[in-house]
Amino acid sequence: MTHAAPHPATARLSHGLSGDVTVPGDKSISHRALMLSALAVGRSTVDGLLEGEDVLATAAAMRALGAGITREETAGPDDTPAIRWVIDGVGVGGLAEPADVLDMGNSGTAARLLMGLLATHPLVAVMTGDASLRKRPMARVATPLEKMGAKIVTRAGGRLPATVIGTRSPVPIRYRLPVPSAQVKSAILLAGLNTPGRTVVVEPEATRDHTERMLGAMGARITVETEADGARVITLDGQPELSARDMTVPGDPSSAAFPLVAGLITEGSAVTVRNVCLNPGRDGLIRTLVEMGADLTVTNPRDVGGEPVGDLVARSSALKAVTVPAERAPSMIDEFPVLAAAAATAHGTSRFEGLAELRVKESDRLQAVADGLARAGVTVRTGEDWLEVDGCGGPVPGGTDAVVTHLDHRIAMAFLVLGLAARNGMVVDDDRMIATSFPGFRALMTGLGCDITDL
Ligand code: S3P
Repeated sequence: MTHAAPHPATARLSHGLSGDVTVPGDKSISHRALMLSALAVGRSTVDGLLEGEDVLATAAAMRALGAGITREETAGPDDTPAIRWVIDGVGVGGLAEPADVLDMGNSGTAARLLMGLLATHPLVAVMTGDASLRKRPMARVATPLEKMGAKIVTRAGGRLPATVIGTRSPVPIRYRLPVPSAQVKSAILLAGLNTPGRTVVVEPEATRDHTERMLGAMGARITVETEADGARVITLDGQPELSARDMTVPGDPSSAAFPLVAGLITEGSAVTVRNVCLNPGRDGLIRTLVEMGADLTVTNPRDVGGEPVGDLVARSSALKAVTVPAERAPSMIDEFPVLAAAAATAHGTSRFEGLAELRVKESDRLQAVADGLARAGVTVRTGEDWLEVDGCGGPVPGGTDAVVTHLDHRIAMAFLVLGLAARNGMVVDDDRMIATSFPGFRALMTGLGCDITDL
């Protein structure tokens, strides 16, 4: 991180945001692009990779496991300089034992998916992370991976640091996810890559399917069937040969959410975000904002590297309250903090259900959102897995008492966005960790006309 000490930031009431921007590459797809191309046979290239700290942690780990990974400058459209990542894969089963501890920083996705990869290689690896990641539950992946034959020793409560003793003779499992988590699903599928036979994951609630799409595109035999009750059954034939590919990562919808909501909740604004991934497992926020009456349109729908992509335009809107049902939560799980900011400016009381997983993200996001909204002068009520927000029907009061971000990038960005529609602005206690997912956030937002500064 750039600054050793917390670095507060302030956002003030803004209007007339305008511009046409692209956001950095999708974080979920970027992690998977590095991990899977590291297991392919031959040389892959990745354009548009998110160069956030989370993904750089994955790149460093895959290098430590033997993959060749370099970052090169190439010529993009109109000869503008562009960055291309080049990955020389080691083949499925070819990972080498790392010589040092693997530090996954702030990233739950990096830690959990990597644990899956390590579990079915005959090696010993120690994994750790920052203060936020070391509080997050790992038993949800360790339990199924131990069923496949690995031994995983965690700190008390299933926390990192952990030692993974990968198995030489993995066994395939059929596993029904007890929590709706793409990370758990993906960890098992990645472990299944170096496992003979068929690994099956059953997910009662659909979660993002980037792993399945990318594995299929690289030549793995992977099928998805839907059962009568709507559960998805994902079957992977083990020990495939993955073919190297030239990949392009579309923009991250979870990052696009911040400039788009900023455009909706400030007066006289029109914000365009181009090249946004619109995977149906990720589009819950867009559906919800439209239900709230947002002037939000999708244009130019297309396919980029096997993912649906479009351009989005958000214009100032008088939002009304909404109820988000539990079954929609997985498709917008990272967007609740910024949705709460939108709901705080809407007319009426919004209610979000099915939020249990928010308690185990980079922070206890349910509590962090409730505390931050209270600092903004907004009335909220929470339960174990729900949140109600009494909207102010326009700008919220705001205030100078800093929101506590708990090393959580999305809490920092959501409350800076809310500050743009706060009569007295909003302060966040730290914005350093925004670099984990959205490098360039401040410059992009101020370029649109947002008043965001150091304290
Ligand atoms: C992710 C899945 C989600 C999400 C995270 C990224 C992924 O976590 O919150 O930011 O890339 O698979 P869960 O699958 O654990 O809900």
